[in-house]
Amino acid sequence: MTKDDLETLLVHGSANADEAKGALTAPIFQTVTFRQPEIGVEIPFDYSRAANPTRTVLERQIALLEEGAAGFAFASGMAAMTAVLMLLDKGGRVLIPLDLYGGTYRLLDGYFKNFGLSWRIADTTDAASLEKELSPDVRAVLLETPTNPLLRVSDIAEVSRAAHEHGALVIADNTFLSPYFQRPLPLGADIVVHSATKYLGGHNDVLSGLVVIKDGRLAERFLEIQKSTGGVLSPFDSYLLLRGIKTLGIRLEKETENATAIARWLSGRSGVDRVYYPGLESDPGYAILKKQATGAGALLSFDLGKAHSVGKFFAALEIITPAESLGAVESLACHPATMSHASIPPDMRAKMGISDRLVRLAVGIEGINALIADLDRAFDASM
Ligand SMILES: Cc1ncc(COP(=O)(O)O)c(C=O)c1O
Repeated sequence: MTKDDLETLLVHGSANADEAKGALTAPIFQTVTFRQPEIGVEIPFDYSRAANPTRTVLERQIALLEEGAAGFAFASGMAAMTAVLMLLDKGGRVLIPLDLYGGTYRLLDGYFKNFGLSWRIADTTDAASLEKELSPDVRAVLLETPTNPLLRVSDIAEVSRAAHEHGALVIADNTFLSPYFQRPLPLGADIVVHSATKYLGGHNDVLSGLVVIKDGRLAERFLEIQKSTGGVLSPFDSYLLLRGIKTLGIRLEKETENATAIARWLSGRSGVDRVYYPGLESDPGYAILKKQATGAGALLSFDLGKAHSVGKFFAALEIITPAESLGAVESLACHPATMSHASIPPDMRAKMGISDRLVRLAVGIEGINALIADLDRAFDASM
């Protein structure tokens, strides 16, 4: 898909879906059920857990953007991930990256493990070491690329080739770059998962999750899981997400421009031990990112130097808000050890490389000078 096609699809993919009245914007069908003209005859919408017209417009839109057979909308990213993991068999294993969102780790280790689905960490950034972990019981490789919170980049095409040779599915969490910058399905992945709460929604006002499946047969199986488990997105929240998606491109362009400027500034500032941002030429993920994505995104992390107090740093921020989440127009600062990754035990966090001095920034669309001045003030105040 060309950039031009993508930019147009963001705006027009969900337009004019209402044939009955000709509404340009998808109407909100705030209804649970639908009149059945004749019993025993199938109709497209009969009960909103199975399908709702507003949600269907959103599900079609995300399938078009990610270039898959079908899309599915859920009430959160974790509801989406739960449903995806339900595709995998008991007795199987999932390979997970060196670091990943704490909630996904908790879901696998705290719950799916009890149902007989085990997990193991694999270095998905290195095809040779991934190959070694691809034992016959591996049913799926779960990718986050870039990862949360260390922004490690994996080669989606290489990982998919290796996984498919061993009969494993590739599930790509595409939350951080969104289909605007990266489309894992044409690169070889089988399933894309989103915390749509983040960039797709974009305004910190709707919790949501999306899934896109490349293969039509697998999508049919997944539809049954969505219908049976029922963690679906409401009609109103589907509308909010459709609204957010229209401006995804311009938001991400500005956020990425700001993030790049901040990453460069941090790289030259005293008080920073290391910057993690795959948009920097010096970052280990830079070359692969350039090959498979059209932008580096607006998330970056850094290790705060030992001369600074982490608590004082967060407390001194005035524009950038210390908070969970990411991907909206407001800049947020996260302390992974106590926020997004608190559900991972400290020894496991240390193994993953997530230190207690790590700060993750989700850069918004504010003025760049104001953001840099805010960070500068926090560095000074935390000495
Ligand atoms: C990469 C990633 N995947 C999944 C999730 C979970 O999404 P949600 O909070 O919408 O359930 C998050 C949340 O922060 C995330 O960062």
